[in-house]
Amino acid sequence: MFRMGFYPEYRGHLCLLFPFLCDWRNVRRFGMPSVFIKTYGCQMNERDSEAVAAQLVAKGYVVAPEEADADVILLNTCSVRDAAEQKALNKMQTLIGQTRKHNPDAVLGFMGCMAQSRGQELIDQLPDVDLVLGTQKFHRAGEYLDDLLGGRRDKVVDTAEETGSEATIREHLSLGASEAKAVTAFVSIMQGCNQFCTFCIVPYTRGRERCRSIEDIVAECRELVAGGVREITLLGQIVNSYGKREIGVRDGKSAFVQLIEAVHEIEGLERIRFTSPHPKGYGDDLVEAYARLPKLVENAHLPVQSGSDRMLKLMHRGYTRERFVDLVGKLRAADSEMGIGTDIIVGFPGETEADFDETLSLCAEVEFDNAFLFKYSQRRDTPAAAMPDQLPESLIEERHARLLEAVDVIRVRKLKEYIGRQMEILVEGPSRRNAARLEGRTRCNKIVVFEGGERFIGQVMDVQIADATKTTLYGDPAILNLN
Ligand code: 5AD
Ligand code: SF4
Repeated sequence: MFRMGFYPEYRGHLCLLFPFLCDWRNVRRFGMPSVFIKTYGCQMNERDSEAVAAQLVAKGYVVAPEEADADVILLNTCSVRDAAEQKALNKMQTLIGQTRKHNPDAVLGFMGCMAQSRGQELIDQLPDVDLVLGTQKFHRAGEYLDDLLGGRRDKVVDTAEETGSEATIREHLSLGASEAKAVTAFVSIMQGCNQFCTFCIVPYTRGRERCRSIEDIVAECRELVAGGVREITLLGQIVNSYGKREIGVRDGKSAFVQLIEAVHEIEGLERIRFTSPHPKGYGDDLVEAYARLPKLVENAHLPVQSGSDRMLKLMHRGYTRERFVDLVGKLRAADSEMGIGTDIIVGFPGETEADFDETLSLCAEVEFDNAFLFKYSQRRDTPAAAMPDQLPESLIEERHARLLEAVDVIRVRKLKEYIGRQMEILVEGPSRRNAARLEGRTRCNKIVVFEGGERFIGQVMDVQIADATKTTLYGDPAILNLN
């Protein structure tokens, strides 16, 4: 049985075949099965979907542009909040209604976090679903789909644990795809989480922490850079826990800093990012790495969750507000341009007005460049779901709206401060809002839109910031250091 994860040498063939496989007309001509994958949730999920798509393309599948045309439709699901689960369930119900009419043989599947946490229950609830693929089984998608399409099996549910599955998310669609050369790429360095924050379902859906080896990750990064990628984001639930047990500290450097150093050596790579670190284990070696390693860009996404020590303790976060503020101070001292983002949960059980005020005051004190706000959602089997004082939805909504307004004012004011400045950007491609323009990102993670031709894509260049909206900077290329 061919599986990309274990046959890295096959990628040579994939490179040659990719443009042919991507030509939608070949599906009709040669009867290749087509697949459409819809992704919910975080960047880890985006990355898993890409790896599954690459695995299937290598087996002869074609990526369908529209779900209506596909022989296989997969929903890669998120369980972090109930709303995300409901979205995927509603989508599947709609798909069943539409697809079963005009394409009764289409294979419909759930994969990812909700597939892992609900398993067989999903098929009991929606008997038209054919495949339920857990978070340690993405590399088996191809063999299961072959069986389902070939009529050898009627249903497949696989949510078992699998040793070594953390090393199977390594194939990229962009490799060798001449018409879709990516400038940026995500690389999964580990799976799982051992922190067990009391609100969070992830340790149950993704399992315990398991990391890939530095050599394996660097090899993947090298291939990406050889294929034209210039910025790599290292992904994990808590990236600064990377290799704690397996690799350990060497010369005063944590395993994660050792990994960044190894990736930093890759010639042709311009930028390194990572997401997400946890404030708890964010060591001085990682703070110092920003000043020492020029490819490590000035950006940190540091989920704080709450400004109240009482809430942080109930959430089992492992740090205090003071420690968090100290860390932000250290990061800004290491580089004054540091962009700081965060995640905040509003309405955790027992959150009082005074606790919420602490979150408001933390936001005013830290002045986050970007804050993602989440309304607390009760998750099955988590300790917080059984805590007393679950707040009414109306109160959560009201606090969410107040906090949103407060963080928006800060974000927009900080964005406007860039007007008139010259910023270095990496040009990623056409703007998502207006394909006639280009879009790039500053080192501190601000999106910059500007007028320019295709030849700029993949270039690091300076732009003069002329304007700012609520989320985006607008620039004029001041082509001083085009390289
Ligand atoms: N309710 C609301 N938000 C949550 N998050 C995780 N679990 C929950 C939950 N039960 C948020 C956290 C985390 C982000 C990815 O999702 O803020 O950092
Ligand atoms: Fe969830 Fe906490 Fe682990 Fe993040 S650190 S994945 S919030 S348990």
